[in-house]
Amino acid sequence: MRLTETQVDAYASDGFVVVPGLFSSAEVDTLSSALPELIEAHREGHILEEGSGAVRSVMGGQDRVAIWERFVRHPRLVHAAAQLLADPASLYQFKVNTKEGFKGAEWSWHQDFIFWHEEDGMAYPLALTAAVFLDDVLEFNGPLLMWRGTHRHGSLAARVEPGTDWRANAQAKLKYSLDETTISRIAERHELVSLKGSRGTAVLFHCNLVHGSMPNMTPYRRAIAFCTYTSVNNRFDAVERPRPQFVADCRGRAVEALADDCLLD
Ligand code: SIN
Ligand code: MN
Repeated sequence: MRLTETQVDAYASDGFVVVPGLFSSAEVDTLSSALPELIEAHREGHILEEGSGAVRSVMGGQDRVAIWERFVRHPRLVHAAAQLLADPASLYQFKVNTKEGFKGAEWSWHQDFIFWHEEDGMAYPLALTAAVFLDDVLEFNGPLLMWRGTHRHGSLAARVEPGTDWRANAQAKLKYSLDETTISRIAERHELVSLKGSRGTAVLFHCNLVHGSMPNMTPYRRAIAFCTYTSVNNRFDAVERPRPQFVADCRGRAVEALADDCLLD
């Protein structure tokens, strides 16, 4: 699949592009029914919600469950990522944020690249994330909120929470987040967009786009699978405390895409 010129232009100017129905209902059924298996098979990748202890995120583990391995190599994702990166794509991170009904907490305002630069030594912001909705994302169950066009600011000064535990760094209070003054300035010049859509919708977004999401106070789960791809020509510098490879794969190996029906057979 190739994105249209309009979609490529939208990504360049807005920092994200929404592709409704990228995955069919049958494909999402397959993924959704394999989510408990992923969560069960890869406990070391769990990030738990504070208080309830519900699984907030499972990071990595795609190599343990065949259908998820196929998902990260799906040509609709890999080719779209390569097209927007204008380079072959390498899978750098895979995670599913489950945002359980009543339990899923917020993700504070942030940009992604600063995490990857500071924690993993990613040299350049040549990375994007494909977010695939495993549930209908409504206005109520904590949709991704994005400030249109903010990727063009580069890395903004972030508030830093001390600590080196990769799990703690992904709690509602993130390690690198943007403060109220920064967000208020952004609000003067940028439109805030709430990314709602049916299951199977995908959003491709730039690693410097400012985004976050609110808690889920409904009974409706909002699970989203995130695949982050970087250019094979990006560089990773050595860091003091490398994160586990299932959190950040810095090997820069090109992903070989599978056949288009790889989730269905
Ligand atoms: C993220 O920014 O990594 C996740 C946001 C969300 O799941 O709402
Ligand atoms: Mn993020």
